[in-house]
Amino acid sequence: MSSQTRSGSADAATASGSIVLEATDVQVSYGKVTALRGVDLELGEGELVSLIGPNGAGKTTFCDTVNGFLPFGGSVQYRGMEVGSTSRDELVDRGMIYCTEERDLFGFMDVEDNLRLGAYAIDDEDYVDQQLEFVYDLFPRLEERTEQNARSMSGGEQQMLAIGRALMGDPDLLVLDEPTIGLAPVILEDISQAIDPIQEQGVSILLTEQNVTFALDHADRMYLLENGEVVKTGTPEQLRGDDYIRETYLGG
Ligand SMILES: Nc1ncnc2c1ncn2[C@@H]1O[C@H](COP(=O)(O)OP(=O)(O)OP(=O)(O)O)[C@@H](O)[C@H]1O
Ligand SMILES: [Mg+2]
Repeated sequence: MSSQTRSGSADAATASGSIVLEATDVQVSYGKVTALRGVDLELGEGELVSLIGPNGAGKTTFCDTVNGFLPFGGSVQYRGMEVGSTSRDELVDRGMIYCTEERDLFGFMDVEDNLRLGAYAIDDEDYVDQQLEFVYDLFPRLEERTEQNARSMSGGEQQMLAIGRALMGDPDLLVLDEPTIGLAPVILEDISQAIDPIQEQGVSILLTEQNVTFALDHADRMYLLENGEVVKTGTPEQLRGDDYIRETYLGG
């Protein structure tokens, strides 16, 4: 689907092999506060890579950086393009879609208008209609509420809407910053069930989480960020077997 609606991405993909996102020695400071201290991260075609870490570790900073919102040291390449010298519009046009921690919904607009806004840059109306159907299949709660204003929805419903809207933008790389934060277990399950179908659409995913169990359940590979540094990396299987991860993040 992505190749049908986006021009040029196939060439970029060929040029960079199967690497979608490659961060090398990324450093970010806010004044005197250093938030990222030389982060390396790689995300391959179709992969779900999870960046886990506690409050203040630098997860949002990393997402903001790869999406071109912050000045940084080091290198971030998306599909072979250097993020630091690529405009936000170009990154979005090439399919880097960011679902932020704040969700950024239009509160006084209804569900369907919020979703359709996610496809503002897409001319292919058939694609937009098909993708809307995909989102409603993924989250039936949204389909039951097409005319409800976003601001009157529950936190969990708003999170589904934020993810749905990101999907309407035809992501090649979907960046999800802590989608499960503050959600009740039943809603968490709805979000959880959406992950596989999204990956099956061919979407690569960068998922940040404090909910280590959720990340372990869905990631192909993981990075643990603490105080702006990657301190562990591996598959979920490897990290489940890691004493430090078990004791610090999984309650022993
Ligand atoms: N705009 C800012 N100005 C100054 N410091 C900031 C700013 N944004 C983040 N920081 C600092 O950078 C560090 C990393 O913050 P960040 O929001 O990236 O962490 P996080 O892992 O996303 O945390 P959380 O899980 O709470 O969302 C923290 O020490 C934070 O206080
Ligand atoms: Mg954050």
